[in-house]
Amino acid sequence: MATLAALPAAMARILLCLFVLARVCASIGSRLPIDDGKKFFDVIEYGTVGDGRTDNTKAFKKAWNDACESKASVPTMHIPQNKTYLLQPLVLRGPCNSQNLTIQIDGTLAAPGDPSAWKKRDKKSCRHWIMIGDVDGLSVLGSGAIDGNGSGWWDHSLCRHRHVGCGKKPTGLVIDKCNEVRLSDLTFKDSPQMHIAIERSTRVRAANLTITSPGHSPNTDGIHVQRSRHVRIHDCRIGTGDDCISIGNGSAHLDISRITCGPGHGISIGSLGKHGSRETVEDVRVRDVHFVGTSNGVRIKTWQGRKGYARDIVFERITVSNSSHPIIIDQFYCDHQDCKNQTSAVEISNVTYSQVNGTSRAKAAVEFACSNKHSCRDILMKDITLNLTAKGKETTSYCSNVRGRRNSNIFPSISCLEEDEDL
Ligand SMILES: *[C@@H]1O[C@H](CO)[C@@H](O)[C@H](O)[C@H]1NC(C)=O
Ligand SMILES: *[C@@H]1O[C@H](CO)[C@@H](O)[C@H](O)[C@H]1NC(C)=O
Ligand SMILES: *[C@@H]1O[C@H](CO)[C@@H](O)[C@H](O)[C@H]1NC(C)=O
Ligand SMILES: *[C@@H]1O[C@H](CO)[C@@H](O)[C@H](O)[C@H]1NC(C)=O
Ligand SMILES: *[C@@H]1O[C@H](CO)[C@@H](O)[C@H](O)[C@H]1NC(C)=O
Ligand SMILES: *[C@@H]1O[C@H](CO)[C@@H](O)[C@H](O)[C@H]1NC(C)=O
Ligand SMILES: *[C@@H]1O[C@H](CO)[C@@H](O)[C@H](O)[C@H]1NC(C)=O
Ligand SMILES: *[C@@H]1O[C@H](CO)[C@@H](O)[C@H](O)[C@H]1NC(C)=O
Ligand SMILES: *[C@@H]1O[C@H](CO)[C@@H](O)[C@H](O)[C@H]1NC(C)=O
Ligand SMILES: *[C@@H]1O[C@H](CO)[C@@H](O)[C@H](O)[C@H]1NC(C)=O
Repeated sequence: MATLAALPAAMARILLCLFVLARVCASIGSRLPIDDGKKFFDVIEYGTVGDGRTDNTKAFKKAWNDACESKASVPTMHIPQNKTYLLQPLVLRGPCNSQNLTIQIDGTLAAPGDPSAWKKRDKKSCRHWIMIGDVDGLSVLGSGAIDGNGSGWWDHSLCRHRHVGCGKKPTGLVIDKCNEVRLSDLTFKDSPQMHIAIERSTRVRAANLTITSPGHSPNTDGIHVQRSRHVRIHDCRIGTGDDCISIGNGSAHLDISRITCGPGHGISIGSLGKHGSRETVEDVRVRDVHFVGTSNGVRIKTWQGRKGYARDIVFERITVSNSSHPIIIDQFYCDHQDCKNQTSAVEISNVTYSQVNGTSRAKAAVEFACSNKHSCRDILMKDITLNLTAKGKETTSYCSNVRGRRNSNIFPSISCLEEDEDL
């Protein structure tokens, strides 16, 4: 009898115990990382309206915040296709919990077309349209488009009109302070200013991108790299109103390959020395590039009166079709009227040009304008043939204050380089 009576009490105690245990576990669980398996963060679920007119900035930020907090192995923020999502200036910031965050863009992201419709949060907010910062391990990819809708910004007189929303023209997409980044397959178009800027980042790979804006659109560089290391850009088609790729201060270990560039100003290192007393670029390899109708091909430009260097640079297997200045070094770069000649300069050394072929629109196909105080050193050239686009005349070269070597297979001939068949 006694044992029979004790049984329900014992069971009750066991049940109570299990219940408490479950509560304890649950409360521990809520403090531990939850891997609730949520991997897909579709912006549609956050209330976006893809009609090209409704502002989706808040919904995108919410989707980003959830994806960024997710502990899933590859959390993916997805922007579905066949829709156009209007976005005001948007900042997506880490650090995030996953090392493999992905933003898959299959639809079109569009900026407001009218500059006065841009919302500015503070004086600086219009430096960029979309900015992704402080993320380690990020992929931004998809079949979609990123449309800066920037034609309203391209009027040169705009900066005189104080009533427009932002004074400075915004960059389309800025990747700032990120590491291990992959950017691929997307189409970028018509940015108000530069299309993509990679700043203060390392190990970035940009591949299979299409970047277009009209040849007359000012300052619409395709990809600008600044203060970043180990950047690979390959298999991209870029045609804009400024440099297809521009490489600014603090860039090192860049590998650029299989690019079609045009219209535009070519691929430029610099300008270096405009913003600060000391600017540097080193270890840049540019290969298998086709320039079509660009105003320059491969260019290095630096300002006078500054310090720093551009060195250890290789341009190889470059094809040029009807570009104006296929090969150019300009140590006297100046974008206004009154630049005085000064003694200090950003030093340029160890630059190789190899297998550069094609046609030049301008007669002077090769121009090396180096400073007399800091001549360009170790300039090497091999296997260069640049003909004039117009038949009947020959191209020429210009060089001052250049030291280096060349092999005999160079046309136009470059008098300032020493001949060396061992190259
Ligand atoms: C997008 O449009 C294409 C072509 O009209 C269609 O085949 C596809 O199913 C659509 N996708 C979605 C997600 O609506
Ligand atoms: C996450 O990214 C790292 C580094 O790129 C990679 O080694 C790892 O395999 C990725 N994990 C998954 C689950 O994709
Ligand atoms: C893009 O700009 C054009 C005018 O420049 C405007 O008609 C169009 O509505 C804009 N698109 C968006 C999404 O604002
Ligand atoms: C390049 O991007 C396009 C457009 O998204 C895609 O269709 C194609 O498969 C990509 N090619 C490679 C080699 O990834
Ligand atoms: C140039 O880049 C270096 C390396 O990132 C940085 O320390 C320096 O401040 C930059 N100089 C200027 C003038 O911006
Ligand atoms: C010249 O630059 C190339 C490419 O970065 C590099 O491999 C080579 O070591 C440099 N040469 C010297 C003498 O620094
Ligand atoms: C350029 O011409 C040289 C011969 O002068 C040839 O060896 C080389 O393959 C050509 N390169 C390109 C990119 O056409
Ligand atoms: C070369 O470019 C000029 C100026 O853009 C153009 O007028 C000319 O037709 C082009 N020539 C060829 C052969 O493409
Ligand atoms: C500066 O020096 C260069 C080369 O010596 C010369 O071509 C140029 O005319 C000079 N510019 C000025 C403004 O003195
Ligand atoms: C340059 O012109 C020469 C002579 O007309 C021709 O043999 C050569 O193929 C041309 N090279 C290129 C790259 O156009």
